[in-house]
Amino acid sequence: MSRISEERKAALLRRYGSNYANKAGMPGRGPGMRGPMMRGPGMRGPGIRRPGRGDHQKAGGPHDGDGKEKSKKWIEIIRRMFAYIGKDAVKIPVVFACVLCSTLASLGGSYVLRPVINNLVYADRSAEEKLKNLVLGIFIMAGIYSIGILCTYFQQKIMVGISQNALVKIRKDLFGKIQRLPVKYHDKHTHGEIMSRFTNDLDTVGMMLNNTLPQLFSGFVTLIGTVVLMFMTNWILALVTILTVPMIAYVGSAIGNRSRKYYMGQQQALGAVNGYIEEIISGQKVVKVFNHEETVMEEFEFLSDELRDKQMKAQFFGGIMGPVMGNLSQVSYSLSAVVGGILCITAGFDIGGLTIFTNYSRQFSRPVNELAMQINTVFAALAGAERVFEVMDEPSETEDAPDAIEVCSETQPKEGARPIKGEVVLKNVTFGYTPDKTVLKNINVTAKPGKKIAFVGSTGAGKTTIINLISRFYEIEEGQILLDGEDIRKIKRDSLRRNIAMVLQDTHLFSGTVMENIRYGRLDATDEEVITAARIANAHSFIERLPEGYNTVLEGDGVNLSQGQRQLLSIARAAVSKAPILILDEATSSVDTRTESLIQKGLDRLMRDRTTFIIAHRLSTVRNADLIVVLEHGEIVEQGTHEELLSIEGRYKQLYTGVIELD
Ligand SMILES: Nc1ncnc2c1ncn2[C@@H]1O[C@H](COP(=O)(O)OP(=O)(O)O)[C@@H](O)[C@H]1O
Ligand SMILES: [Mg+2]
Repeated sequence: MSRISEERKAALLRRYGSNYANKAGMPGRGPGMRGPMMRGPGMRGPGIRRPGRGDHQKAGGPHDGDGKEKSKKWIEIIRRMFAYIGKDAVKIPVVFACVLCSTLASLGGSYVLRPVINNLVYADRSAEEKLKNLVLGIFIMAGIYSIGILCTYFQQKIMVGISQNALVKIRKDLFGKIQRLPVKYHDKHTHGEIMSRFTNDLDTVGMMLNNTLPQLFSGFVTLIGTVVLMFMTNWILALVTILTVPMIAYVGSAIGNRSRKYYMGQQQALGAVNGYIEEIISGQKVVKVFNHEETVMEEFEFLSDELRDKQMKAQFFGGIMGPVMGNLSQVSYSLSAVVGGILCITAGFDIGGLTIFTNYSRQFSRPVNELAMQINTVFAALAGAERVFEVMDEPSETEDAPDAIEVCSETQPKEGARPIKGEVVLKNVTFGYTPDKTVLKNINVTAKPGKKIAFVGSTGAGKTTIINLISRFYEIEEGQILLDGEDIRKIKRDSLRRNIAMVLQDTHLFSGTVMENIRYGRLDATDEEVITAARIANAHSFIERLPEGYNTVLEGDGVNLSQGQRQLLSIARAAVSKAPILILDEATSSVDTRTESLIQKGLDRLMRDRTTFIIAHRLSTVRNADLIVVLEHGEIVEQGTHEELLSIEGRYKQLYTGVIELD
């Protein structure tokens, strides 16, 4: 008996269902979800598979909303999508010619059957001659079908090339765009969400470019061709068959609607299961520590059962579509057989004609259904493309002003760049990440070249925010930040950042060797320089002990290292850079006190001749700073040297003497 309460069940479905959809946005990528289901009649587009949040809700699919505006939008999306085909567009007529040829071949091949059969039944020729005609007929049919197969081959080959080329271009544009998006964008969008644009959304676009266009065209040609051939064969029978169309359409849409409904339920349940798995796997340690394994199993079983129920319905209706349609076409098949038989006896209709006609009537409903399904794929692809273009249309980091200058350090002069000493001044800086919450209020700090400025204050006071502003991860609305008297907005962004070496609060290591990871700080650093930097950061000795020393490959964000070791590597990365400004945001927070004091000498060497901003937990590490700035709730409450601040007996003294704990 399940011990999970009803409220919890509802919460699980709601939270994980939509949470996953928001976070990873990939419920559609579950096992078995691609292929036929993906193209199933229930598919309305990623907007449904991924409810999204807030403004993303609008990716609802083309069926809703007011017509004109919507269709204008879809046309624009189609235009942009096709723009990516670019020069390959000249190949499209070839593809269409191939499709036309192969479709006509398959229609024509079956039409040849008529004289072949009539030759056997009616002609009063000798058996020998009949055999000769039969073999000839079969060869002609084989020839026609072979041409069809050849055309299909070329059509596929060319189309795959076209669509993959287009996808490469879209993917490249999207990735390039991600590099140019401001940091702010990532505050609002989870990585999973961004990821899903590269995977899910591009997939649907690719699928459409690949299959849909040729299939739409071929379905259309087949439909027209079949109707024409039916009329050519026998117009009375053709009319009889066409009378069954409303019935087929009605049943088809009825099943389609049911399946669409259950399909949505299934996608949500699938999202819930995926979301739950994702969260529990990443939180495995916490689950174990607090002994939640059993509850987790029960909750999972519940979600999994939910998925089974929904999936059974969805798969059932998705699955019966084919057989039901098949049986319906049997109805029109027998109808035409009966009527055709009567016509043969009474009106001299030929047996060969009857044979091919019954074939046509059986395959008549296929293109109708195919067209309906392909249209769903088109809408899914449009919604996918919309989400891709949505990212591309996000404002990038503001362009550098046309008169923006380049700067360089005095020790490393660069052609056309203004050498700077490294004086940083914050003048009346007021800032909030969101308009409704001011995080920094009227900050005034002057950092003289080569001096060491420390920011202290409790968690959330705004220390990291100041760093974010100096490196222009965010733009300030009020006040000014000056670098050697130049507003940082007048300096090229990459030039500014090249002159700032940073050890961020969250370390990030890339897959690659230790050597490469340190060299990330300055790509032209020699091996010797990298090793010197590692020595400064006191990382050399532990690197030497790694299985392959500097050539040890770090996996996924350096999971094979301790938190402290990762910090040492990122300090080394900053040390290898020759930037005149250095930022250390809790750079040694995960390092033990002994190691910290060992690094201290190295850090002192690193800070010499550089303007350094240092944020540290342990006040012992900041006491020799030239200026200590005490922040509280985004405001500077005190600033001065260690001695000065102690003498005024204020906040700093309380923090330092432990009257107040620092976080
Ligand atoms: N990316 C962000 N978006 C919105 N608010 C943020 C963001 N980063 C930090 N904040 C808020 O700004 C305040 C200051 O944060 P931060 O500068 O990181 O503090 P700390 O002094 O601990 O480094 C906190 O209240 C935090 O909630
Ligand atoms: Mg911080």
